Amino acid sequence: MTPLPAMRRIGERIDRFPIVESTNGSAFEAAAAGAPDGTAIVADAQRAGRGRLGRDWNSPAGCNLYLSILLRGPFPQTVVTALPFLAAVATRDAIRDVIGEAAGVIVHIKWPNDLIINDRKVGGILVEARSAGGESLLAVVGIGLNVNWPSHAMPDELKATATSLEQELGRSLDRSGLLTAVLHRFDHGFGRLCKEGAMWLIDEWSRSCRTLGQTVDIETSSGPLTGLAEAVEPGGLLRLRHTDGSSSRLSVEATLRLRPSGPHSPITGVTRALRD
Ligand code: BTN
Repeated sequence: MTPLPAMRRIGERIDRFPIVESTNGSAFEAAAAGAPDGTAIVADAQRAGRGRLGRDWNSPAGCNLYLSILLRGPFPQTVVTALPFLAAVATRDAIRDVIGEAAGVIVHIKWPNDLIINDRKVGGILVEARSAGGESLLAVVGIGLNVNWPSHAMPDELKATATSLEQELGRSLDRSGLLTAVLHRFDHGFGRLCKEGAMWLIDEWSRSCRTLGQTVDIETSSGPLTGLAEAVEPGGLLRLRHTDGSSSRLSVEATLRLRPSGPHSPITGVTRALRD
């Protein structure tokens, strides 16, 4: 495992639960009860795990990682918008730290922050932020990672699109080792983000991104958009280049599908697009 500096504050306190509704919800509750900045909430299972775009996050007991990190602001806006990207990069790196390069398992990122292996989703990120009065802000970074979830135990509707580290590696992994690695990586990256800004992070993220350089179809509030996913900008917007040379910038609420080589399937989800 790559040596990293000792943890500064993220994960210094870890609250562990056998089951909660949602670790993101528990993190906001902990904040209201005075939990310090950097507190991590971990549960073995969630009754109502939350995904992006109002979806559910399937959260069975005994196999996966459900983690939320509480951050107490105020933060610059650049830090807030970079949090989902940081969580994706930190989790990617933590997986590498634990399984090693030699395992031959490559984690990619699909915009905005799905973690994928062999084109199937292995993890997801949900960042939620709330005002805590005045300038103060609470941000909760939720990370769900499918660790030792066998295919036969997955709901049928997930089998074709989701995977777990165990399925990809052919062996189970120690969840607590992964938790420590994610917290270390996040802590290290958060310190760097606050000090240096988001450029390095966007570069790191782009290195693993499966979306850039592909033609994508996206449904926006003003109609469907097709274009080449050209770059992610430091504010987290995806820049899409259209055939007429114009470009759009898309916010992270989007759901997109990479365009298959044949006739492409309809896309779901709605996003805001800022057109140049
Ligand atoms: C996605 O839709 O891809 C995001 C999924 C995020 C799931 C994690 S599990 C831990 C944390 N608690 C939640 O309720 N959601 C996030």
